[in-house]
Amino acid sequence: MSGPFDGRSPQPPWLDEEFLTPEFCVNPYRLYGRLLDDAPVAWSDKARAWLVCGFDDVVAGLSDVRLSSGRRIPALASALSPEARERDARALDCMARMMAFRDQPSHTRLRKIVSRAFTARRVADLEHQVQELVDTLVGRFPRDGAFDLVAALTFPLPALVICRLLGIPEERLTDVRRWSDAVVALLSSAVMTDDHADQARVAVEEADAYIRSLVDARRAEPQDDLLTAIARTGVDGDSLSPDEITAMVILLFFAGFETTEGLIGNGVLALLADDGPRQSLAADPELAPAVVEEVLRFDTSVHRQSRIAVTPLTISGVDIEAGDPVLFMIGAAGRDPRRFQRPDRFDPHRPDAGNVGFGHGIHFCLGAPLARLETRIALATLAKGRYPLHSAGQPTYGTLLAVRKPSALPVTLA
Ligand code: HEM
Repeated sequence: MSGPFDGRSPQPPWLDEEFLTPEFCVNPYRLYGRLLDDAPVAWSDKARAWLVCGFDDVVAGLSDVRLSSGRRIPALASALSPEARERDARALDCMARMMAFRDQPSHTRLRKIVSRAFTARRVADLEHQVQELVDTLVGRFPRDGAFDLVAALTFPLPALVICRLLGIPEERLTDVRRWSDAVVALLSSAVMTDDHADQARVAVEEADAYIRSLVDARRAEPQDDLLTAIARTGVDGDSLSPDEITAMVILLFFAGFETTEGLIGNGVLALLADDGPRQSLAADPELAPAVVEEVLRFDTSVHRQSRIAVTPLTISGVDIEAGDPVLFMIGAAGRDPRRFQRPDRFDPHRPDAGNVGFGHGIHFCLGAPLARLETRIALATLAKGRYPLHSAGQPTYGTLLAVRKPSALPVTLA
Protein backbone atom coordinates (compact mmCIF):
# COMPACT_ATOMS: atom_id res chain seq x y z
CA MET A 1 0.00 0.00 0.00
CA SER A 2 1.24 3.48 -0.70
CA GLY A 3 0.06 6.74 0.78
CA PRO A 4 0.85 9.11 3.58
CA PHE A 5 -0.14 6.53 6.16
CA ASP A 6 2.83 4.23 5.38
CA GLY A 7 4.62 3.16 8.52
CA ARG A 8 3.09 5.82 10.76
CA SER A 9 -0.13 4.43 12.13
CA PRO A 10 -2.08 1.28 11.45
CA GLN A 11 -4.91 1.75 9.05
CA PRO A 12 -7.74 -0.28 10.57
CA PRO A 13 -8.41 -3.08 8.04
CA TRP A 14 -12.17 -2.71 8.48
CA LEU A 15 -12.24 1.03 7.80
CA ASP A 16 -12.31 1.06 4.00
CA GLU A 17 -14.54 -2.03 3.92
CA GLU A 18 -17.23 -0.02 5.69
CA PHE A 19 -16.51 3.63 4.80
CA LEU A 20 -18.75 5.15 2.09
CA THR A 21 -20.67 1.89 1.47
CA PRO A 22 -24.46 2.05 0.97
CA GLU A 23 -24.92 0.77 4.57
CA PHE A 24 -22.63 3.54 5.85
CA CYS A 25 -24.70 6.14 3.99
CA VAL A 26 -27.88 4.91 5.70
CA ASN A 27 -26.26 4.69 9.13
CA PRO A 28 -22.73 6.07 9.51
CA TYR A 29 -22.84 5.95 13.31
CA ARG A 30 -21.81 2.30 13.66
CA LEU A 31 -18.53 2.99 11.88
CA TYR A 32 -18.07 6.31 13.70
CA GLY A 33 -18.49 4.47 17.02
CA ARG A 34 -15.84 1.96 16.06
CA LEU A 35 -13.46 4.68 14.93
CA LEU A 36 -14.04 6.70 18.11
CA ASP A 37 -13.26 3.62 20.21
CA ASP A 38 -10.35 2.14 18.29
CA ALA A 39 -8.89 4.61 15.82
CA PRO A 40 -10.01 8.22 16.38
CA VAL A 41 -7.36 9.37 13.89
CA ALA A 42 -7.09 6.94 10.98
CA TRP A 43 -5.92 6.97 7.37
CA SER A 44 -8.42 5.94 4.68
CA ASP A 45 -7.13 4.92 1.26
CA LYS A 46 -10.67 5.23 -0.06
CA ALA A 47 -10.91 8.89 0.94
CA ARG A 48 -7.18 9.45 0.46
CA ALA A 49 -7.26 11.38 3.71
CA TRP A 50 -6.93 11.19 7.46
CA LEU A 51 -10.23 10.88 9.28
CA VAL A 52 -10.31 12.71 12.62
CA CYS A 53 -13.32 11.80 14.78
CA GLY A 54 -12.85 12.93 18.42
CA PHE A 55 -14.85 16.00 19.49
CA ASP A 56 -11.90 17.90 20.95
CA ASP A 57 -9.67 17.08 17.97
CA VAL A 58 -12.35 18.26 15.53
CA VAL A 59 -12.88 21.54 17.40
CA ALA A 60 -9.13 22.17 17.66
CA GLY A 61 -8.37 21.10 14.08
CA LEU A 62 -11.02 23.26 12.43
CA SER A 63 -9.41 26.36 13.91
CA ASP A 64 -5.75 25.31 13.56
CA VAL A 65 -3.83 27.61 11.20
CA ARG A 66 -1.52 24.72 10.33
CA LEU A 67 -4.46 23.20 8.49
CA SER A 68 -5.41 25.13 5.37
CA SER A 69 -8.76 25.68 3.68
CA GLY A 70 -7.06 27.62 0.88
CA ARG A 71 -5.21 24.58 -0.40
CA ARG A 72 -8.36 22.48 -0.72
CA ILE A 73 -9.33 23.42 -4.29
CA PRO A 74 -5.79 23.04 -5.76
CA ALA A 75 -5.45 19.70 -3.93
CA LEU A 76 -8.79 18.45 -5.30
CA ALA A 77 -8.03 19.78 -8.79
CA SER A 78 -4.76 17.85 -8.92
CA ALA A 79 -6.86 14.74 -9.71
CA LEU A 80 -8.09 16.35 -12.98
CA SER A 81 -6.48 15.83 -16.37
CA PRO A 82 -4.35 18.80 -17.58
CA GLU A 83 -6.94 19.42 -20.34
CA ALA A 84 -9.83 19.61 -17.85
CA ARG A 85 -7.81 21.87 -15.59
CA GLU A 86 -7.34 24.28 -18.46
CA ARG A 87 -10.86 23.92 -19.88
CA ASP A 88 -12.53 24.31 -16.48
CA ALA A 89 -10.16 26.92 -15.07
CA ARG A 90 -12.96 29.45 -14.71
CA ALA A 91 -15.04 27.18 -12.48
CA LEU A 92 -11.99 26.26 -10.39
CA ASP A 93 -11.03 29.94 -10.06
CA CYS A 94 -14.56 30.79 -8.97
CA MET A 95 -14.44 28.16 -6.23
CA ALA A 96 -10.98 29.19 -5.14
CA ARG A 97 -12.36 32.73 -4.73
CA MET A 98 -15.04 31.60 -2.24
CA MET A 99 -14.18 32.49 1.34
CA ALA A 100 -14.82 28.91 2.45
CA PHE A 101 -11.70 28.02 0.45
CA ARG A 102 -9.45 30.86 1.59
CA ASP A 103 -7.08 31.35 4.50
CA GLN A 104 -6.22 34.53 6.35
CA PRO A 105 -5.85 37.35 5.45
CA SER A 106 -7.98 37.14 2.29
CA HIS A 107 -10.65 35.15 4.16
CA THR A 108 -10.88 37.91 6.78
CA ARG A 109 -11.39 40.55 4.11
CA LEU A 110 -14.21 38.64 2.34
CA ARG A 111 -15.93 37.64 5.58
CA LYS A 112 -15.84 41.22 6.88
CA ILE A 113 -17.50 42.59 3.78
CA VAL A 114 -20.23 39.94 3.53
CA SER A 115 -20.93 40.06 7.30
CA ARG A 116 -21.84 43.74 6.92
CA ALA A 117 -24.50 42.69 4.42
CA PHE A 118 -25.65 39.34 5.87
CA THR A 119 -26.46 40.64 9.34
CA ALA A 120 -28.22 39.00 12.29
CA ARG A 121 -30.88 41.66 11.91
CA ARG A 122 -31.55 40.71 8.27
CA VAL A 123 -32.02 37.10 9.38
CA ALA A 124 -34.19 37.96 12.41
CA ASP A 125 -36.42 40.03 10.11
CA LEU A 126 -37.18 36.82 8.19
CA GLU A 127 -38.88 35.14 11.17
CA HIS A 128 -42.38 36.10 10.10
CA GLN A 129 -41.80 35.21 6.42
CA VAL A 130 -40.30 31.82 7.30
CA GLN A 131 -43.26 31.03 9.59
CA GLU A 132 -45.67 31.98 6.79
CA LEU A 133 -43.80 29.80 4.30
CA VAL A 134 -43.80 26.83 6.69
CA ASP A 135 -47.53 27.29 7.37
CA THR A 136 -48.25 27.42 3.63
CA LEU A 137 -46.19 24.31 2.85
CA VAL A 138 -47.60 22.39 5.84
CA GLY A 139 -51.13 23.49 4.92
CA ARG A 140 -50.65 21.79 1.54
CA PHE A 141 -49.76 18.40 3.03
CA PRO A 142 -52.11 15.71 1.65
CA ARG A 143 -54.69 14.83 4.28
CA ASP A 144 -54.96 11.19 3.24
CA GLY A 145 -52.26 8.72 2.34
CA ALA A 146 -48.49 8.77 2.52
CA PHE A 147 -46.41 11.60 1.09
CA ASP A 148 -42.75 12.56 0.91
CA LEU A 149 -41.82 15.21 3.46
CA VAL A 150 -38.68 16.08 1.50
CA ALA A 151 -40.71 17.15 -1.55
CA ALA A 152 -43.42 18.74 0.61
CA LEU A 153 -41.29 20.70 3.08
CA THR A 154 -37.61 20.06 3.73
CA PHE A 155 -36.45 20.70 0.16
CA PRO A 156 -38.61 23.71 -0.83
CA LEU A 157 -38.30 25.64 2.43
CA PRO A 158 -34.54 26.43 2.47
CA ALA A 159 -34.52 26.87 -1.29
CA LEU A 160 -37.35 29.42 -1.19
CA VAL A 161 -35.84 31.21 1.80
CA ILE A 162 -32.38 31.66 0.25
CA CYS A 163 -33.96 32.90 -3.00
CA ARG A 164 -36.11 35.40 -1.09
CA LEU A 165 -33.19 36.52 1.03
CA LEU A 166 -30.99 37.16 -1.99
CA GLY A 167 -33.85 38.60 -4.04
CA ILE A 168 -33.87 35.90 -6.73
CA PRO A 169 -37.28 35.34 -8.35
CA GLU A 170 -38.84 31.99 -7.41
CA GLU A 171 -39.19 30.96 -11.05
CA ARG A 172 -35.38 30.68 -11.19
CA LEU A 173 -35.33 28.24 -8.27
CA THR A 174 -34.74 25.15 -10.41
CA ASP A 175 -31.82 26.87 -12.18
CA VAL A 176 -30.29 27.89 -8.85
CA ARG A 177 -30.68 24.34 -7.60
CA ARG A 178 -29.06 22.92 -10.75
CA TRP A 179 -26.08 25.28 -10.44
CA SER A 180 -25.72 24.50 -6.76
CA ASP A 181 -25.91 20.73 -7.36
CA ALA A 182 -23.16 20.90 -10.00
CA VAL A 183 -20.83 22.78 -7.66
CA VAL A 184 -21.59 20.48 -4.72
CA ALA A 185 -21.01 17.39 -6.89
CA LEU A 186 -17.56 18.69 -7.78
CA LEU A 187 -16.60 19.77 -4.29
CA SER A 188 -17.81 16.77 -2.37
CA SER A 189 -16.60 14.00 -4.68
CA ALA A 190 -13.97 11.87 -2.92
CA VAL A 191 -11.88 12.29 -6.09
CA MET A 192 -12.60 15.17 -8.49
CA THR A 193 -13.41 13.92 -12.01
CA ASP A 194 -13.19 15.69 -15.39
CA ASP A 195 -16.93 15.15 -15.91
CA HIS A 196 -17.79 16.84 -12.64
CA ALA A 197 -15.47 19.74 -13.47
CA ASP A 198 -17.04 20.16 -16.93
CA GLN A 199 -20.53 20.25 -15.44
CA ALA A 200 -19.44 22.75 -12.79
CA ARG A 201 -17.95 24.98 -15.52
CA VAL A 202 -21.27 25.10 -17.39
CA ALA A 203 -23.11 25.84 -14.12
CA VAL A 204 -20.68 28.57 -13.06
CA GLU A 205 -20.86 30.24 -16.50
CA GLU A 206 -24.67 30.25 -16.44
CA ALA A 207 -24.82 31.41 -12.81
CA ASP A 208 -22.22 34.11 -13.41
CA ALA A 209 -24.15 35.59 -16.36
CA TYR A 210 -27.37 35.55 -14.36
CA ILE A 211 -25.88 37.00 -11.17
CA ARG A 212 -24.14 39.80 -13.12
CA SER A 213 -27.43 40.76 -14.77
CA LEU A 214 -29.17 40.81 -11.38
CA VAL A 215 -26.39 42.89 -9.82
CA ASP A 216 -26.61 45.41 -12.70
CA ALA A 217 -30.36 45.62 -12.13
CA ARG A 218 -29.85 46.16 -8.36
CA ARG A 219 -27.26 48.87 -8.98
CA ALA A 220 -29.75 50.69 -11.22
CA GLU A 221 -32.63 50.07 -8.83
CA PRO A 222 -31.58 49.00 -5.31
CA GLN A 223 -33.93 46.65 -3.41
CA ASP A 224 -34.14 45.64 0.23
CA ASP A 225 -32.40 42.31 -0.38
CA LEU A 226 -29.08 40.63 0.35
CA LEU A 227 -27.90 40.86 -3.25
CA THR A 228 -28.25 44.65 -3.23
CA ALA A 229 -26.46 44.76 0.13
CA ILE A 230 -23.60 42.51 -1.06
CA ALA A 231 -23.16 44.55 -4.24
CA ARG A 232 -23.14 47.88 -2.39
CA THR A 233 -21.36 47.05 0.86
CA GLY A 234 -17.79 48.13 1.33
CA VAL A 235 -15.39 48.19 4.25
CA ASP A 236 -12.86 51.02 4.42
CA GLY A 237 -13.34 51.77 0.73
CA ASP A 238 -12.92 48.11 -0.25
CA SER A 239 -15.78 46.17 -1.84
CA LEU A 240 -16.26 42.90 -3.69
CA SER A 241 -15.25 42.71 -7.36
CA PRO A 242 -17.81 41.29 -9.85
CA ASP A 243 -16.00 37.91 -9.80
CA GLU A 244 -16.04 37.91 -6.00
CA ILE A 245 -19.76 38.72 -5.93
CA THR A 246 -20.49 35.74 -8.19
CA ALA A 247 -18.34 33.45 -6.04
CA MET A 248 -20.02 34.70 -2.85
CA VAL A 249 -23.56 34.26 -4.18
CA ILE A 250 -22.83 30.75 -5.50
CA LEU A 251 -21.29 29.90 -2.12
CA LEU A 252 -24.44 31.10 -0.35
CA PHE A 253 -26.60 29.00 -2.71
CA PHE A 254 -24.85 25.75 -2.13
CA ALA A 255 -23.85 26.24 1.50
CA GLY A 256 -27.43 26.99 2.52
CA PHE A 257 -29.63 24.59 0.54
CA GLU A 258 -28.96 20.96 1.20
CA THR A 259 -27.44 21.59 4.61
CA THR A 260 -30.64 23.08 6.02
CA GLU A 261 -32.80 20.59 4.12
CA GLY A 262 -30.78 17.83 5.81
CA LEU A 263 -30.97 19.30 9.29
CA ILE A 264 -34.76 19.68 9.15
CA GLY A 265 -35.17 16.14 7.74
CA ASN A 266 -32.81 14.62 10.29
CA GLY A 267 -34.60 16.52 13.06
CA VAL A 268 -38.02 15.24 11.96
CA LEU A 269 -36.65 11.68 11.95
CA ALA A 270 -35.18 12.06 15.43
CA LEU A 271 -38.54 13.31 16.72
CA LEU A 272 -40.52 10.59 14.91
CA ALA A 273 -38.26 7.95 16.44
CA ASP A 274 -38.79 9.06 20.02
CA ASP A 275 -42.08 10.16 21.56
CA GLY A 276 -40.44 11.73 24.63
CA PRO A 277 -38.69 14.70 22.98
CA ARG A 278 -41.59 15.11 20.55
CA GLN A 279 -44.11 15.45 23.38
CA SER A 280 -41.79 17.75 25.32
CA LEU A 281 -41.51 20.01 22.28
CA ALA A 282 -45.28 19.94 21.67
CA ALA A 283 -45.87 20.91 25.31
CA ASP A 284 -43.16 23.56 25.40
CA PRO A 285 -42.34 25.38 22.13
CA GLU A 286 -39.56 27.20 24.03
CA LEU A 287 -37.66 23.92 23.85
CA ALA A 288 -37.27 24.31 20.05
CA PRO A 289 -33.80 25.98 20.10
CA ALA A 290 -32.46 23.18 22.35
CA VAL A 291 -33.99 20.58 20.01
CA VAL A 292 -32.19 22.19 17.05
CA GLU A 293 -28.85 22.15 18.93
CA GLU A 294 -29.36 18.49 19.82
CA VAL A 295 -30.06 17.62 16.17
CA LEU A 296 -26.80 19.42 15.30
CA ARG A 297 -25.03 17.02 17.67
CA PHE A 298 -27.01 13.81 17.24
CA ASP A 299 -27.60 13.68 13.49
CA THR A 300 -26.26 16.80 11.83
CA SER A 301 -26.30 17.38 8.10
CA VAL A 302 -22.69 18.44 7.42
CA HIS A 303 -20.64 15.40 8.36
CA ARG A 304 -17.15 16.43 7.46
CA GLN A 305 -14.94 19.35 6.54
CA SER A 306 -11.58 18.98 4.86
CA ARG A 307 -8.29 20.76 5.38
CA ILE A 308 -4.76 20.32 4.02
CA ALA A 309 -1.84 20.17 6.48
CA VAL A 310 0.55 23.05 5.79
CA THR A 311 3.25 21.81 8.19
CA PRO A 312 3.83 18.46 9.91
CA LEU A 313 1.64 18.10 13.00
CA THR A 314 0.42 15.51 15.46
CA ILE A 315 -3.23 14.83 16.26
CA SER A 316 -3.93 12.56 19.23
CA GLY A 317 -0.49 11.01 18.89
CA VAL A 318 -0.74 10.39 15.12
CA ASP A 319 1.76 12.16 12.87
CA ILE A 320 0.34 14.03 9.89
CA GLU A 321 2.73 15.21 7.18
CA ALA A 322 2.70 18.52 5.32
CA GLY A 323 0.42 18.18 2.29
CA ASP A 324 -1.76 15.43 3.82
CA PRO A 325 -5.53 15.91 3.44
CA VAL A 326 -7.43 15.72 6.74
CA LEU A 327 -11.19 15.19 7.09
CA PHE A 328 -12.68 16.51 10.31
CA MET A 329 -15.61 14.19 10.95
CA ILE A 330 -18.20 16.51 12.48
CA GLY A 331 -20.89 13.80 12.39
CA ALA A 332 -18.69 11.47 14.44
CA ALA A 333 -17.62 14.19 16.89
CA GLY A 334 -21.23 14.55 18.06
CA ARG A 335 -21.22 10.93 19.21
CA ASP A 336 -17.89 11.03 21.07
CA PRO A 337 -18.40 9.21 24.40
CA ARG A 338 -15.48 11.16 25.89
CA ARG A 339 -17.50 14.35 25.41
CA PHE A 340 -21.14 13.19 25.71
CA GLN A 341 -22.83 10.81 28.13
CA ARG A 342 -25.00 8.26 26.31
CA PRO A 343 -24.08 9.89 22.99
CA ASP A 344 -26.49 7.73 20.96
CA ARG A 345 -29.49 9.07 22.83
CA PHE A 346 -31.40 12.05 21.41
CA ASP A 347 -32.02 14.27 24.43
CA PRO A 348 -32.68 18.01 24.09
CA HIS A 349 -32.47 18.30 27.90
CA ARG A 350 -28.96 16.84 28.17
CA PRO A 351 -26.79 18.65 30.73
CA ASP A 352 -23.68 18.19 28.56
CA ALA A 353 -25.27 19.85 25.51
CA GLY A 354 -22.95 21.17 22.81
CA ASN A 355 -22.02 20.51 19.20
CA VAL A 356 -19.64 21.46 16.42
CA GLY A 357 -22.34 21.25 13.73
CA PHE A 358 -21.57 24.70 12.33
CA GLY A 359 -17.80 24.26 12.52
CA HIS A 360 -15.39 26.27 14.62
CA GLY A 361 -12.98 29.17 14.21
CA ILE A 362 -12.78 31.66 11.38
CA HIS A 363 -14.89 29.52 9.04
CA PHE A 364 -17.74 29.11 11.56
CA CYS A 365 -20.91 28.91 9.49
CA LEU A 366 -22.00 32.33 8.28
CA GLY A 367 -25.55 31.05 7.81
CA ALA A 368 -25.93 29.52 11.29
CA PRO A 369 -28.58 32.05 12.47
CA LEU A 370 -30.62 31.42 9.31
CA ALA A 371 -30.31 27.62 9.51
CA ARG A 372 -31.28 27.70 13.20
CA LEU A 373 -34.29 29.94 12.46
CA GLU A 374 -35.63 27.73 9.65
CA THR A 375 -35.09 24.46 11.53
CA ARG A 376 -36.59 25.80 14.75
CA ILE A 377 -39.74 27.09 13.03
CA ALA A 378 -40.17 23.93 10.93
CA LEU A 379 -39.76 21.50 13.85
CA ALA A 380 -41.85 23.58 16.27
CA THR A 381 -44.69 23.90 13.74
CA LEU A 382 -44.69 20.16 13.01
CA ALA A 383 -44.69 19.34 16.74
CA LYS A 384 -47.66 21.58 17.53
CA GLY A 385 -50.08 18.73 17.03
CA ARG A 386 -52.30 20.29 14.41
CA TYR A 387 -50.44 18.23 11.82
CA PRO A 388 -49.29 15.11 13.67
CA LEU A 389 -46.88 13.29 11.43
CA HIS A 390 -46.33 9.55 11.48
CA SER A 391 -43.69 7.57 9.73
CA ALA A 392 -44.96 5.75 6.63
CA GLY A 393 -41.82 3.77 5.82
CA GLN A 394 -38.05 3.88 5.93
CA PRO A 395 -36.33 7.07 4.74
CA THR A 396 -33.84 6.67 1.91
CA TYR A 397 -30.41 8.28 1.83
CA GLY A 398 -28.16 9.20 -1.08
CA THR A 399 -24.41 8.81 -0.98
CA LEU A 400 -23.02 10.44 2.14
CA LEU A 401 -20.13 12.48 0.86
CA ALA A 402 -20.31 15.53 3.02
CA VAL A 403 -24.02 16.18 3.57
CA ARG A 404 -26.30 13.69 5.32
CA LYS A 405 -29.97 14.13 4.50
CA PRO A 406 -32.90 11.85 3.73
CA SER A 407 -33.56 11.95 -0.01
CA ALA A 408 -37.10 10.65 0.63
CA LEU A 409 -38.97 10.70 3.95
CA PRO A 410 -42.38 8.97 3.73
CA VAL A 411 -44.92 10.21 6.28
CA THR A 412 -48.68 10.41 6.83
CA LEU A 413 -50.87 12.76 8.83
CA ALA A 414 -52.80 10.91 11.51
C1 HEM B 1 -28.09 23.27 8.98
C2 HEM B 1 -27.53 23.97 8.06
C3 HEM B 1 -26.06 24.25 7.99
C4 HEM B 1 -25.00 23.55 8.48
C5 HEM B 1 -25.02 22.25 9.28
C6 HEM B 1 -23.81 24.28 8.10
C7 HEM B 1 -22.52 23.91 8.45
C8 HEM B 1 -21.39 24.63 8.14
C9 HEM B 1 -20.06 24.29 8.56
C10 HEM B 1 -19.69 23.05 9.36
C11 HEM B 1 -19.21 25.25 8.11
C12 HEM B 1 -17.70 25.31 8.36
C13 HEM B 1 -16.89 25.01 7.13
C14 HEM B 1 -15.40 24.86 7.41
O1 HEM B 1 -14.96 24.88 8.56
O2 HEM B 1 -14.65 24.70 6.43
C15 HEM B 1 -20.01 26.20 7.37
C16 HEM B 1 -19.51 27.31 6.72
C17 HEM B 1 -20.29 28.14 5.98
N1 HEM B 1 -21.67 28.15 5.88
FE1 HEM B 1 -22.93 26.83 6.72
N2 HEM B 1 -24.18 25.39 7.38
C18 HEM B 1 -25.55 25.41 7.30
C19 HEM B 1 -26.34 26.37 6.70
C20 HEM B 1 -25.86 27.47 6.05
C21 HEM B 1 -26.67 28.50 5.46
C22 HEM B 1 -28.20 28.57 5.51
C23 HEM B 1 -25.81 29.38 4.86
C24 HEM B 1 -26.09 30.65 4.09
C25 HEM B 1 -27.18 31.03 3.58
C26 HEM B 1 -24.47 28.92 5.12
C27 HEM B 1 -23.31 29.55 4.69
C28 HEM B 1 -22.04 29.17 5.05
C29 HEM B 1 -20.85 29.87 4.58
C30 HEM B 1 -20.82 31.07 3.66
C31 HEM B 1 -19.76 29.22 5.16
C32 HEM B 1 -18.28 29.57 5.00
C33 HEM B 1 -17.89 30.53 6.08
C34 HEM B 1 -16.42 30.93 5.99
O3 HEM B 1 -15.65 30.30 5.28
O4 HEM B 1 -16.09 31.91 6.66
N3 HEM B 1 -24.52 27.76 5.85
N4 HEM B 1 -21.34 25.81 7.43
